[in-house]
Amino acid sequence: MASVALGADEVAEAFARAGAEVVRTGSHGLFRIEPLVEVETADGRIGYGPVAPDEVGAVLDGSHANRIGKVADLSFFASQQRFTFSRCGVIDPIDLDDYAAHGGWAGLAAARALAPAAVVAMVRDSGLRGRGGAGFPTGIKWQTVLDTPGAEKFIVCNADEGDSGTFADRMLMEGDPYGLIEGMAIAAHAVGAGHGYIYIRSEYPFAVAVMREAIARSAAQVAPFTLEVRVGAGAYVCGEETALLDSIEGKRGQVRAKPPLPAIAGLFGKPTVINNVLSLAAVPFILANGAAAYAAVGFGRSRGTMPVQLAGNVRNGGLYEIGFGITLGELVEVIGGGTESGRPVRAVQVGGPLGAYFPPAMFHLPFDYESFATAGGLIGHAGITVFDDSVDMAKMARFAMEFCAVESCGKCTPCRIGSTRGVETVDRIIAGERIDDNIEILRDLCDTMKFGSLCALGGFTPYPVLSALDHFPEDFGGATALPV
Ligand code: NAI
Ligand code: SF4
Repeated sequence: MASVALGADEVAEAFARAGAEVVRTGSHGLFRIEPLVEVETADGRIGYGPVAPDEVGAVLDGSHANRIGKVADLSFFASQQRFTFSRCGVIDPIDLDDYAAHGGWAGLAAARALAPAAVVAMVRDSGLRGRGGAGFPTGIKWQTVLDTPGAEKFIVCNADEGDSGTFADRMLMEGDPYGLIEGMAIAAHAVGAGHGYIYIRSEYPFAVAVMREAIARSAAQVAPFTLEVRVGAGAYVCGEETALLDSIEGKRGQVRAKPPLPAIAGLFGKPTVINNVLSLAAVPFILANGAAAYAAVGFGRSRGTMPVQLAGNVRNGGLYEIGFGITLGELVEVIGGGTESGRPVRAVQVGGPLGAYFPPAMFHLPFDYESFATAGGLIGHAGITVFDDSVDMAKMARFAMEFCAVESCGKCTPCRIGSTRGVETVDRIIAGERIDDNIEILRDLCDTMKFGSLCALGGFTPYPVLSALDHFPEDFGGATALPV
């Protein structure tokens, strides 16, 4: 979708008109070089990018100024550890032969040769944790579903990807849909589920089309497991797992109280595995290569790789898959190349609209679940949004409260009322009214929202607000930071 937004369709049409055989792929993940064209030669695939529709001739005769050679040799890609995205940008997404030729279905074959409990044990031993943001151990979630008796169980993939600055789920579905389908089929074998749903946000029309086509083409490979796509209707809260389940059931998407956990009583009241796209797409690698191969990479209790998404005011915006433990500064300054504007980085928001803002003074933080939690933030779905020194952090705090007010499902009071009072309070601070008193009120309100909200939308909105206050007090009328 990013490449199409940059003119990939027109470029592809121009090559077809010139008589070239055109194969469309997903994106490799470095948007600065999109639309990217790779030409199959005796020396391998040679990349050119960005390419405009009237530059076809220069690409075909090899004289194009943006010749970048083999894409995998670019430092942005050479330094990655692509476990989940190894095929993305490489294969024809819906070509079953291409998928099989690049290691596809090896994980499912390995899983089906094992008893369900052994598959669950492998996923547990790999250390894989929920990539949607919460980081709950995937193997333990699957174990709960396996241990819960039920004639009917479901696998639900959460592809609602509502976090601003994140696009990994979309890229995976557009570029390697069978990788997700294979992961879901493995989950189905592991817990004894017969049917699966992929819940995709309506803003992802290409992902919806690719997944539907891929499901139809791979029906024989995953049988007797069956799958279907459900399309959301644009509510951020439907990314929350229980609201998502309500939405699939045809109800208005509202958060359910937990317990019961979806693993015990989920979709239509049945035991349900609900995992993010990235969690499920990581599973084929684990089954094909072994739990130890996945767990060998990582940092502390965060094992394996994370597809980090670099967005906002950053030079090398895109997807960078790497083992946990790389520092935040390396991701932003070295991999990301600093700001696109060329001005100094002032803040980065990690983990979407509910994530904390960090100043460069905290760039030493290793990218892993625990380090960020200890520092008053979260890695969430691993979206990093970069801001230069022109950002006004009081306005960003206001935006966080406003976002919560707009997207709140309205079920609980701290979020429904608190977010609106939060916007008003930040407005008073910005207007210079009794700044210290209003900051105290804002902190108190954040405390109530954090501990009194039913779900992460109201409960995590305080992260961006408090981190803006704590790390950038000079933007709040010069007030001094108070302890949280
Ligand atoms: P949570 O901590 O309540 O639950 C995490 C998962 O573990 C859930 O699926 C839950 O059902 C499951 N679980 C917990 N205990 C279990 C047990 N004993 N057995 C089996 N399963 C168990 O977190 P929640 O509310 O599901 O997610 C919050 C996160 O979502 C935040 O950290 C935030 O980063 C992330 N988020 C992601 C977005 C995205 O676009 N990917 C958007 C908004 C938030
Ligand atoms: Fe709904 Fe907000 Fe409460 Fe979540 S925190 S249940 S979105 S009102």
